[in-house]
Amino acid sequence: MLEQRDFGATGLRVSAVGLGAGQIGEDDVTEEEAAAVLHGAIDAGVTLIDTAASYGSSEERIGRHLAGRRDEFVLSTKGGQAIDGNADWTPGAVLASIDRSLRRTRSERLDIFFLHSCPVDVLRRGDLQETLDDAVAAGKVGVAGYSGDNEHLAFAADSGRFGAIETSVNVVDQWNLRNVVGRVDRDRSAPGVIAKRPIANAPWRFAERPSGHYAELYWERFRELDLDPGELDWGELALRFTAYAPGVHTAIVGTAKPEHLRRNIEAAGRGPLPAETLTVLDQAWQRVGGNWPSST
Ligand SMILES: NC(=O)c1ccc[n+]([C@@H]2O[C@H](COP(=O)([O-])OP(=O)(O)OC[C@H]3O[C@@H](n4cnc5c(N)ncnc54)[C@H](OP(=O)(O)O)[C@@H]3O)[C@@H](O)[C@H]2O)c1
Repeated sequence: MLEQRDFGATGLRVSAVGLGAGQIGEDDVTEEEAAAVLHGAIDAGVTLIDTAASYGSSEERIGRHLAGRRDEFVLSTKGGQAIDGNADWTPGAVLASIDRSLRRTRSERLDIFFLHSCPVDVLRRGDLQETLDDAVAAGKVGVAGYSGDNEHLAFAADSGRFGAIETSVNVVDQWNLRNVVGRVDRDRSAPGVIAKRPIANAPWRFAERPSGHYAELYWERFRELDLDPGELDWGELALRFTAYAPGVHTAIVGTAKPEHLRRNIEAAGRGPLPAETLTVLDQAWQRVGGNWPSST
């Protein structure tokens, strides 16, 4: 049974493993494959699906296949970039993004709407936070969220203006965890926390450097950390690290493959990593990773 957790102080409940719906938006994933992963996720107890306006046809596919099951999962999506003649990071762009996501996902309300990698200079203005508050008051959005990393994330979390944050947390990307997420966990009015890229893009898949691939930086760090998974397979080690990291409520592994999703849910069901494994991971991080910023 997939563990369900309170999502910070939002009143929402989310599964320890969520579905990162980036992959199901890609052109080489068929409609049938997307439907299988989406329904398979809900059937397996996944109660959070994360998408974004920029993930190809992901939002439309969620709407097309899950419109009849909208009350079975928390939907998070993101936006804020230029749209319909509105410049990036303007109130008009945020409002138009929200309306477009509502249409595409066939939802009456977006449970969480994230400003998607919005720079800290914009956050300092404060107007987009007000725009999100208005969207919450209007019932279009349930929780106002910030998605990003490093100093941008730290500012957003410290501001207290966001009920949810989404950020990279994994064995090779720990800045956000050590500097922000682990800290907000101790705050009683804590935001809900979604860990993105939770298995570090599965870098162990690549025997050779995946030059130019999205996973290249993580592949490099993975080699430098020089970890030994022992009896565990890499996917299990990576996911149990993230899903049970302090402050993380849900780890949204991205996949378009039902078999991977099933394995991920099974792996997370085995609980936190043993203390001695966490110590070894911590020592490796202190040795070579201490100065690594989060990958954005
Ligand atoms: N807010 C943001 O700016 C942002 C940025 C990045 C990601 N995200 C969100 O986070 C989600 C996850 O991030 P991500 O996809 O970049 O990284 P990830 O979840 O760490 O890794 C996903 C990759 O691992 C593979 N995979 C999944 N399960 C596997 C398994 N059991 N064994 C082997 N390979 C496996 C997937 O391919 P298969 O399809 O082959 O399974 C996919 O290529 C995204 O879908 C998206 O929702 C948000």
